Parts: sequence; C-alpha cells; structure tokens
Amino acid sequence: MSEICLQIDGKEVKATETMTVLEAARAAGIAIPTLCNHEKLESYGACRICVVEAETSGKPRLVAACVFPVQKDMVVKTRSEKVDRTRRVLLEEMLAHAPDSEELQKLAVEYGADKDRFEKEASFCILCGLCVRYCAEVKKKDALGFVDRGAKREIAFIPEIAARECWDCKECFPLCPTSALQAAYVLTEALAFPAARRRHS
Ligand code: SF4
Ligand code: FES
Repeated sequence: MSEICLQIDGKEVKATETMTVLEAARAAGIAIPTLCNHEKLESYGACRICVVEAETSGKPRLVAACVFPVQKDMVVKTRSEKVDRTRRVLLEEMLAHAPDSEELQKLAVEYGADKDRFEKEASFCILCGLCVRYCAEVKKKDALGFVDRGAKREIAFIPEIAARECWDCKECFPLCPTSALQAAYVLTEALAFPAARRRHS
C-alpha cells in the first residue's frame, strides 16, 4: 500500500492512501470530535461533527473527516472559524433533540454552542445510528432499526428479536451519546417481553 504525505494543522503527516482524514489525524495524535464514528463500524457520515477544512488543488472546502479519503499534499485544518461555526450550529441543532446529553453538553462548552438556540424537539435521539449499526454489523442480530421518516425518524427495538437477544448483550448501550437508546429498550422490555425480565432476574 503506498504512503502519501499531507499536512494536518501545520504538521506533516504520513498516511496510506486508503485512510480517511480522521484515521490519518488520529494516527498522528490529532483529535477530531466524532459522534457517529466507531472503529468497528463502517463509516456512516451522519452527524457531521467531524467536519474539517480540507484544501486540495488550492480549493478549501468543508468535508466530513470520517468519510473523506486522504489525498497527496492535502492541507487540512481541524479548527478554523468556519469549522468551529459549523460544529457550533450542528451542536445547537442536536441539543434541541437531546438537551440532556452529557456528551453534547461537553462539546457545546468547547464550541460555545447555545443549547437553547433552537426550539426543543426532544426526541432524545440524534440519529447517529451507532446502536443500529453495531447490532447489525458487529452482533449480526438486527434487533433494532430506524422507523419513520423526516422529523419523526427514531430507533425502535424489534420486540421478538430483542426478547431473545438483548438481555444478555446490551453492548450498544454505552455507545449512545444520548439517553434515547436505554429509554427505547426499557419501553420495549416493559411492553413486549415482561416475561423475559422475570426469567433473568
Ligand atoms: S438511540 Fe442513541 S445510539 Fe441509537 S441512533 Fe439514537 S443517539 Fe444514536
Ligand atoms: S463522525 Fe463523521 S459524520 Fe459523524
């Protein structure tokens, strides 16, 4: 695999050409915030919080670092006025959905995001897809998925599968950047498989 050189935050960085900007930055010890990225999962590009400025052929543009491939001589800025402004607005939008998320609140402090800028539409889920993809890609169980569209889109457990598979697993719980996942599970459990709870307790 051939190696290429690029610059990230003024630092010369070597990367293999199959790497994303996020992977190259991390390998060089440069942090970029992520919400929908996980080392065991395919890149998804949903949250956009990993946005960076990438300049190729003299043209800077905003790209999602977790899906954008490195290129020879690319110049990347992980922080700039544009990057910070974009992250700030993204956080303000996400906080309207999940105002209690500690992970979002921590990032909001760093980027000066106002958690009350947008009217609250608390669905608690920011649709990062970590839980759904982890269950499908790593556990191969498909015990939960997205339902509905647009503003109503949310995650839901499939009761028949969840009753069989989730009780002893719950590996997706710590991945969730909000409290939506646990809430959906508790609801499914209470409504659909109370017998399973008794059996396991
Ligand atoms: S429930 Fe949590 S982990 Fe699942 S998609 Fe929503 S925010 Fe992401
Ligand atoms: S971490 Fe890159 S889009 Fe979510």
